[in-house]
Amino acid sequence: MRLLHVVGARPNFMKVSPVWRALSTRNGVEQVLVHTGQHYDVNMSGVFFQQLSIPAPDVNLGVGSGSHAQQTAEIMASFEKVVVGCRPDLVLVYGDVNSTVAAALVCSKLQIRVAHVEAGLRAFDRTMPEEINRVVTDQLSDLLFTPSADANANLEREGIASGKIHFVGNVMIDTLINLLPQAERLPANGVPRHYILLTLHRPSNVDDASTLRELLEALVAIGNRVPIIFPVHPRTRQRIDDLGFKAGEHRGILLFEPKPYLDFLNLQRRATAVITDSGGIQEETTYLGVPCLTVRENTERPITITMGTNTLVGRDFALLRGELERILDGHRKPHQVPPLWDGQASERIAGIITG
Ligand code: UD1
Repeated sequence: MRLLHVVGARPNFMKVSPVWRALSTRNGVEQVLVHTGQHYDVNMSGVFFQQLSIPAPDVNLGVGSGSHAQQTAEIMASFEKVVVGCRPDLVLVYGDVNSTVAAALVCSKLQIRVAHVEAGLRAFDRTMPEEINRVVTDQLSDLLFTPSADANANLEREGIASGKIHFVGNVMIDTLINLLPQAERLPANGVPRHYILLTLHRPSNVDDASTLRELLEALVAIGNRVPIIFPVHPRTRQRIDDLGFKAGEHRGILLFEPKPYLDFLNLQRRATAVITDSGGIQEETTYLGVPCLTVRENTERPITITMGTNTLVGRDFALLRGELERILDGHRKPHQVPPLWDGQASERIAGIITG
């Protein structure tokens, strides 16, 4: 059985790693890895391959950045040639990035079966580019591997045959469980005892100058109370530079380049709280039991709120500060690890694919 995995952007890498490993122990499986090149910097891509023990891609399409249409179209045009040459039995796509939907579209037109890892998540917000990618990818997929029961319900509501849907758990948590001991062994390296860890990259937060300015002002006020460690995504770096925001002028906010996986995991587990607009970080903080304040109006990962440590604060920056004060005063949400976030999701996927 020839399996082809497609990855492109940072959040794909921690998902492909355990699935690849689980499949590599099965008999009669040949695996091919395609990197679209959507992310290309060493600290957005290369270092993750190294730390997550992902083999070097067999093919790198090298598409790089562009508008959504341009990026998606370039991936499709290049990836089609790879698929026609390789004729895989099944193509695995991950998450909700442009590389995911582009690969699913190509395969479905070539009548090659598609498996979607992390299927069924919905924010019910089509202003988010990822939501479009999720809906389209799920409609085109033949095997849908879901991380939580709400995802199964979403897919069934959209008319997807229940026989295609498999609740397997969360592959990103497989990676976390596997690498947490290594992350824990990293030295603290001058990191303060109490700090807030911050990430921001959603277009809705960073692309509009006045929204970003207002958000940074709220964060500066928080940073005066507890230091903020802020590894900055390249998209956000450009927008911050455009605003003329200088880290040196705001002593409470410490700007860094994007962090490698292990370093970021170590920062997450030690943080007093995390402020983010990422999807994956809502899940990781839920597993780690670290309070998470999500600067979004909605989430495609509601289980992190109902069972986990996540709270949505939207763009209400007074609420953000209020919730943070409560955390600093020692208040904690009761929380549990969601079902099947147990480090075995990839083994379940491998079993279903090869079974
Ligand atoms: C993409 C995903 C998003 C995911 C995020 C994680 C889509 C629609 N979005 O958003 O779901 O949460 O990745 O990071 O697929 N850039 C670099 N170096 C890189 C990559 C990007 O400098 O290695 C810069 C480029 O200037 C680019 C910008 O970052 O224009 C944004 O990159 P892009 O891939 O378009 O989207 P992300 O915001 O990273």
